[in-house]
Amino acid sequence: MDLEKMLTDRLAPAFETVAGVPVDPVVRRSQRADFQSDAALALARRLGRPPRAIATEVLERAELADLCAAAEVSGPGFLNLTVADSALAGLVSALATDPRLGVPPAPEPETVVVDYSGPNVAKEMHVGHLRSTVIGDAAARLLEWLGHRVIRANHLGDWGTPFGMLIEHLVDLGEAEAAQELSMGDLNAFYKAARAKFDADEAFQERSRRRVVALQGGDEATLRRWRLLVEQSERYFLNVYDLLDVTLTERDFHGESSYNDLLAAVVDDLDRLGLLRQSDGAACVFPPGSVGRDGEPLPLIVRKSDGGYGYPATDLAAVRHRTGTLGATRLLYVVGLPQRRHFEMVYAAAAQAGWLIPPARAEHVGFGSILGPDGRMLRSRAGESVKLVALLEEAVARATALARERNPELGEAEAAEVGRAVGIGAVKYADLSSDRHKDYVLDWERMLSLDGNTAPYLQYAYSRIRSIFRRAGLHARPDAGISLAEPAERALAFELVGFGAVVTEVERGLEFHHLAGYLHRLAVAFNAFYERCPVLRADGPVRGSRLVLCDLTARVLRQGLHLLGIRTPERL
Ligand code: ARG
Repeated sequence: MDLEKMLTDRLAPAFETVAGVPVDPVVRRSQRADFQSDAALALARRLGRPPRAIATEVLERAELADLCAAAEVSGPGFLNLTVADSALAGLVSALATDPRLGVPPAPEPETVVVDYSGPNVAKEMHVGHLRSTVIGDAAARLLEWLGHRVIRANHLGDWGTPFGMLIEHLVDLGEAEAAQELSMGDLNAFYKAARAKFDADEAFQERSRRRVVALQGGDEATLRRWRLLVEQSERYFLNVYDLLDVTLTERDFHGESSYNDLLAAVVDDLDRLGLLRQSDGAACVFPPGSVGRDGEPLPLIVRKSDGGYGYPATDLAAVRHRTGTLGATRLLYVVGLPQRRHFEMVYAAAAQAGWLIPPARAEHVGFGSILGPDGRMLRSRAGESVKLVALLEEAVARATALARERNPELGEAEAAEVGRAVGIGAVKYADLSSDRHKDYVLDWERMLSLDGNTAPYLQYAYSRIRSIFRRAGLHARPDAGISLAEPAERALAFELVGFGAVVTEVERGLEFHHLAGYLHRLAVAFNAFYERCPVLRADGPVRGSRLVLCDLTARVLRQGLHLLGIRTPERL
């Protein structure tokens, strides 16, 4: 249990006695003491008593002796709490023998579907898919570690009208040729060529339309060609996932097409409940709470006027399947913020239809864009959206060059290994360390810097600790007594015992910049400690204690970065 919570539990009963009603003591880390509570100030008016008098009485009643070395009223009525070294040392010792590093498994594990990545067949993945893939994978890793049953859902765009022209283009090219082009990752060229023919050639347009009908009608020869397109693209996406070190596998592909057989039931259910209305020939739901600029209710199109089903229908079927068949109670959608409205409408309609009722709930884990150095949407020199693979390869190349420069002794293979861990880590960390609701600027210099809130900084701190143990040829003894006489030791200990609270917070809000920020604070605290407190040169018991602090820091850094999907090489 973390200190904030422990102190809160001690103060709350005292506040309640004094105030006559339950009060949140609002315990926070503070500059003046270790922790501060300012709840007495807020109570003063309600109780008609001076805040200092309230605070003094709370202190008299609160049981703090074993936890705090000092507890005093300060200023207008703050409670300043200084944690006893013995209490802090006890927590560090408990952590040292805890394989979960102070992060208990979820008391009530649930089934969570994480819908992420979701690239489109025969189209290049772009940087928007990068964010979804990186954030979604971190969510899947973290929730799984907490003991939830995680189902990864890669909602591939593998169905719909564009497949008419894509299949016709495949027919023109010849299947072998097309497969070759696609598996090499030349997806954009393929898509563009199809598009260009479609725009220029009426006969091709007509063929494409007929092809869509054949596809939807289940024509075997058409389906076979469609499968070829899907398989080649999937193969390419798996390459990207491998390069990016994400946990998505081929078992996680649940493309839009996989819901085809469920669409009729969706329409039936909605119809039976009287939720479907015709609008311009299309069958629509009008979910409550969604209105356009003109104040008119907005339709969610379930079946188009041509009888086909689109994106909204597929997402409705997916919700119904995920709660009803898979038994999920938490549905996460890691998709860019521009799709917020779409998901709000889908959730509202699904709730009306009875597919999304508490405890089941859905959350849009939205995110902003990646911007170029000029502050505009990231584009390549040619003005096109940047290809994901090109971006990742550049990251790895830059990091490999840096690794060679810093450490000329690294062999070829190790330099490549380190370059990959650092380059990919830097890209992921730049994303996860910024507030996902906002846009962020892709800045190579900054994200690969060894200083600041970056992956290389954290990876470096980790490898530095590992090298202490390697050089000395020894291990930390988790049962060693902990002494925290130096301020830098205390400061590090406070960070270490805070890991659990941060992970719990991220489990709820899926805001990974809180975890990144925490790991950065931990590394900063470690570096300050390491500068001031000799480890190997210290005497017996102090040395034993400091080795535990070192080892714990390394373990928390490794576990924390692992949750973010970032590797920690033993040497940089
Ligand atoms: N394929 C979509 C796109 O590229 C993302 C899919 C998101 N997931 C979902 N269930 N709609 O925008």
